[in-house]
Amino acid sequence: MKKDFLIFKRNKKLVYLDSAATTQKPESVINTISDYYKSYNSNVHRGMYPISEKATDNLEKVREKVARFINASPSEIVFTYGTTDSFNFIASVLESSGVISGSTKILLTISEHHANILPWQRISQKLTYLGLNKNFELKESSDYYDIFSYTLASNVTGVINSNPNINAKIKIIDAAQAIAHIPVDVKKLQCDFLAFSGHKAFSPSGTGVLYINSKWLDRLAPYRLGGGIVTKVTWDKAGLISYPHKFEAGTPNIEGIIGLGAGIDYITKISLVKIEEYETKLRSYLIEKLSAIKNITIFSPKDSKTKAIGVVSFSIDKIHPHDIAQVLGNHNICVRAGHHCAQLLHREVFKVPATVRVSLSIYNSFKDIDIFIDVLKKAIDIYQR
Ligand SMILES: Cc1ncc(COP(=O)(O)O)c(C=O)c1O
Repeated sequence: MKKDFLIFKRNKKLVYLDSAATTQKPESVINTISDYYKSYNSNVHRGMYPISEKATDNLEKVREKVARFINASPSEIVFTYGTTDSFNFIASVLESSGVISGSTKILLTISEHHANILPWQRISQKLTYLGLNKNFELKESSDYYDIFSYTLASNVTGVINSNPNINAKIKIIDAAQAIAHIPVDVKKLQCDFLAFSGHKAFSPSGTGVLYINSKWLDRLAPYRLGGGIVTKVTWDKAGLISYPHKFEAGTPNIEGIIGLGAGIDYITKISLVKIEEYETKLRSYLIEKLSAIKNITIFSPKDSKTKAIGVVSFSIDKIHPHDIAQVLGNHNICVRAGHHCAQLLHREVFKVPATVRVSLSIYNSFKDIDIFIDVLKKAIDIYQR
């Protein structure tokens, strides 16, 4: 799929293995954004002239597209600025709507990204973290919780948490990593809320989605207040329009959202089933090659029975992850080193402060992995000499 991405045409030697941080953008997405600016740049939901009507129309079509993509209704799709924004949104709104408070029992998992930890820490003093087994899968719990908020696919181990059997009133899903790699269906997942970012799915940064199950739409207060969400404003109060627009005060990231539509079209055209199939093969190859390296610890399942996306983290004895990433970077190989916004997982489970993370996408080839392994071995030689 490299042919669809200008960045690989312009950087022939680029080996991009950091798609969990952000994906590259296909030409179709870039052209869609450029076309908006060149042909109909205007604000949405207010202009009574053709280019504004076109912008509004295209933005609302993306809402329909996103809804189809995750098997929801358009009215259940709220545009945000990313997954972090979606989690701050939902935690604050559940609190301001009187659904949760300091004593709400919230279950998270130890592998959560900080985006799905900090907003809950601000509100509740009753947080529990589900641990992992030796395959990095979620452990079980028979306790009852008010909220269970968990990642569908880990941004560190890659493990897919398909259907954790947890007894909770409200189920919230972080689909930031899953969205571009496996089919996501909110009906099958039976969730109340689900969040993802556009930039991890071939789309522009600053775009995000919060799925709000229809049973919550009337009960929840808006997160942001301001223009575009009111019926009548008086001295001391304002009447609000209906959902989903009541949740979207202010000018949205118009070009970004229109670009998100093109990103979703790109994924749909290839099909997530095919993407998953290809990336599973690529991941097995990566695991096989990494496993043959001496003094390596791999913090991702090696056994293909545990379902995982192409995100693999590892450490090498006595070499700092940043040193490895630096040598790889000097060879135009992009990986991530650090705690990947998952400090609890690193400190409490891995017992290391940082790891190197390789993350795959459809534009990666088996050759990319060969090049990466080759330079990784050279880096190990340099530091272990
Ligand atoms: C699992 C997970 N959740 C949440 C986030 C936060 O996403 P964003 O930075 O786009 O808000 C990330 C980003 O790395 C992630 O991997």
